[in-house]
Amino acid sequence: MQYRPLGDSGVSVSPLTVGCWSFGGDERSYWGGQSQREVDQLVREALDLGVNLFDTAFMYNEGASEISLGRALAGQRERALICNKIPIVPHEEIPAYEDKITASLKRLRTDYIDILMIHWPTRDERLLRENLEAILRVQQRGLVHRIGVSNFGVRTLQIAREMGVRPVADELAYNLISRGIEKEILPYCVKEEIGVVAYMPIMQGILTGKFDSLGDIPPARRRTIHFDSRNNPAARHGGPGVETELPEFLTKLSELARQSGMTPGDLSIAWVSSKPGISSVIAGCRSVDQLRQNVRAAETPLAADMVSLLNEASEKILGLLGPNADLWESPANSRVW
Ligand SMILES: NC(=O)c1ccc[n+]([C@@H]2O[C@H](COP(=O)([O-])OP(=O)(O)OC[C@H]3O[C@@H](n4cnc5c(N)ncnc54)[C@H](OP(=O)(O)O)[C@@H]3O)[C@@H](O)[C@H]2O)c1
Repeated sequence: MQYRPLGDSGVSVSPLTVGCWSFGGDERSYWGGQSQREVDQLVREALDLGVNLFDTAFMYNEGASEISLGRALAGQRERALICNKIPIVPHEEIPAYEDKITASLKRLRTDYIDILMIHWPTRDERLLRENLEAILRVQQRGLVHRIGVSNFGVRTLQIAREMGVRPVADELAYNLISRGIEKEILPYCVKEEIGVVAYMPIMQGILTGKFDSLGDIPPARRRTIHFDSRNNPAARHGGPGVETELPEFLTKLSELARQSGMTPGDLSIAWVSSKPGISSVIAGCRSVDQLRQNVRAAETPLAADMVSLLNEASEKILGLLGPNADLWESPANSRVW
């Protein structure tokens, strides 16, 4: 496997990162149930394929994802880099920041987190600065090896720098129909040598062609800015979506996939992975077969003319959605700033 530099951190990562959001879930969870036996198999196979980065978060299944990943890594912890994400901690709980990290370490059955990220920034700049100070302190205590951020835009990345935090990576939504980071955030990260770890490369399965019509997509996966908010009480962005343009794009994607001898999902992952500045692509994998397929796709170099054709095909949606990098909020309420 050809590893890639994670920004200027000196750490090398696999082109595919295993997204662990579904780990430890049960029937009520966003992704439904995933047994420990399935997670163990998936993690073992990923490590054997050479995948070294695993992405979890405090919030994923209320800590059950961390617990499940920790169990799967028991006895082979040193083979993996764990990326964990902590939500913004309110002002009154900042004194307990280290306790929160210690509790996470316990869930993960480890004594260090390789990369700890702030999951989403807050618009409350003072609180953001307090959280950045707190994360620096836990790094100084050795509980965290490297600091990263997630869903940070240019201004919040600059604030991190002002606070003496040099994020090794920014974890951002990026796929063929969610190209908001291309205008400012991705070029900034490239210039500043901050690794970009791209999440939702197949738009939660939508870009694989597995849904015959938009109506077949589970409502929870239709809460994003691509779908009319008025038709889904769970959505909050309030916008009209791109439901006319999306099927046209999916048809074009299938055609290009056929031309290149790949599946639409593989082509979508390869497109993200081929973009300059992308250190790794995080895909959620529900089965070992999906994992193998996604790893292969992330390692597939895409010819420049195919990248151009895909850019062109997705241009209309990019024009409509604009540079908002928050997939769930309107541009006015975007949490990525
Ligand atoms: N930093 C953040 O704010 C943030 C936000 C979201 C996600 N993430 C991270 O990014 C990871 C990936 O995001 P995601 O899971 O939301 O989206 P995704 O990777 O685009 O989609 C994953 C889902 O697509 C389906 N799938 C995966 N591989 C497939 C394949 N080869 N063929 C057909 N279907 C396939 C599976 O669901 P089904 O089989 O059930 O369809 C899988 O759970 C998460 O696990 C999480 O670690 C981070």
